[in-house]
Amino acid sequence: MVDVKNKDRVRIGETYEIEVTGLAHDGEGVGRIGDLAVFILGAIPGDKVKARIISTKKTYARAQTIKIITPSPNRCQSDCEVADTCGGCQLHTMKYEEQLKWKEQFVIDALSRIGGLDPSVLPIKGMDNPLWYRNKAQIPVGKQSGQLVMGFYKTKSHEIVSINKCLLQHPLINKAMDVLIPLLNEHRIKPYNEVTHTGFLRHVIFRASISQNQVMLVLVTRTEEFPQFSLLIKELKQQLPELVSVAQNINPEKTNTIYGGKTKILWGEKYLIEELGGLKFAISPRSFFQVNPIQTKVLYDCVKEFADLKGEESIWDIYCGTGTIGLYLASKAKAIYGIETIESAVEDANLNAQLNKVTNAEFFFGKAEEVLPTLAAKDYPMDLVIVDPPRKGCETTVLDVISQMNVPKVIYVSCNPTTLARELRYLVDNGYRVEVVQPVDMFPMTSHVECVTLMSRVEE
Ligand SMILES: C[S@@+](CC[C@H](N)C(=O)[O-])C[C@H]1O[C@@H](n2cnc3c(N)ncnc32)[C@H](O)[C@@H]1O
Repeated sequence: MVDVKNKDRVRIGETYEIEVTGLAHDGEGVGRIGDLAVFILGAIPGDKVKARIISTKKTYARAQTIKIITPSPNRCQSDCEVADTCGGCQLHTMKYEEQLKWKEQFVIDALSRIGGLDPSVLPIKGMDNPLWYRNKAQIPVGKQSGQLVMGFYKTKSHEIVSINKCLLQHPLINKAMDVLIPLLNEHRIKPYNEVTHTGFLRHVIFRASISQNQVMLVLVTRTEEFPQFSLLIKELKQQLPELVSVAQNINPEKTNTIYGGKTKILWGEKYLIEELGGLKFAISPRSFFQVNPIQTKVLYDCVKEFADLKGEESIWDIYCGTGTIGLYLASKAKAIYGIETIESAVEDANLNAQLNKVTNAEFFFGKAEEVLPTLAAKDYPMDLVIVDPPRKGCETTVLDVISQMNVPKVIYVSCNPTTLARELRYLVDNGYRVEVVQPVDMFPMTSHVECVTLMSRVEE
């Protein structure tokens, strides 16, 4: 072991042999050089690697694996052609059973370290086949050797690793990519250049309906004028009969945000229709829809089980997206109220209620932290509140309303154990008990994990 007492002894560009003993929350291996923690890209626990230092901070350094000296017993061969360079997924060289063990432990540790909580955490629900599951891919466009290319960014960079398929994407999305890339080149579509803020095509979003075997494309462009579109779509359609919709989103800003404010349908349907648990859901180009349809059913069934509905409950589905969770429960509830901040998702939620002949659901457009307090003041009944916020979690106002309204039961669906732990702690400090936590692997091969948590109001 090298004797390193502080970060000043470690310099960018130096190489070290490091035993990897842990895994950080974003999937990097963790080891030490002397007393300095090092986060190592491309390494998993149990590996001994040779790694090059790529950055140093006050309390830690970051390194890139350049050689695996002794592989971990939990290492496996990845079939991905760009496994060494692409930053799209982090755990594909770790055996799937190990990934599941690690995710479950990560949830337990986050709840304990960040939340000071020690609830019952059920065994994680994984997939039988953890590949080809994604129904959506948001792929940046760039230029390499004079050609338009698509791919994910290299880890911690904006350098595109060119791909024409990904093992996590549904085969229909891979087929669509394979057809689209040569056509974009033939039609001389100019890729966007983020440095000079020139060019045309920034991102392509592929969405697939697995139940209908259909694809939607969203082309995110810097400018609106798109003279080649009708010929391009005609040729696309000939080679990709599963294509049902092509939309254009215009993002003229110099920003890392994918979408701009304006979206229009260039050709075909306004929505993709997906079926889940016997229900139909319309998904428009900008709406959120869970990316792993097989595990979404597992997730929603868990919410249904935790809800344990008797038929008389008024349920709040906060951060409702296209209304999926509420509609999943509607036949067993008295009323469903959803809140969502994307207007088109609220329109989809209303359409989804109609498609499924649900008449006891109402969806409100706006920010949960603004809409919920207003409706709570009007004395809407709240027997069960389900929150399913984005990664940054709920605004405190939402948690405050829940506890001020003495809601008897809360189900927290979370894609970020760190914010989950912090917010469960807040609810516990405001009169709630954590009954049980169910981790679900919605994102195999990546470091992400979803959880469904049941909480109940502590009797005074
Ligand atoms: C993780 S998704 C969950 C969607 C839905 N529950 C589902 O399972 O498909 C979070 C949703 O919250 C919405 N959202 C984000 N910030 C919000 C806010 N402040 N108020 C209401 N909705 C918000 C997003 O647009 C997105 O649809």
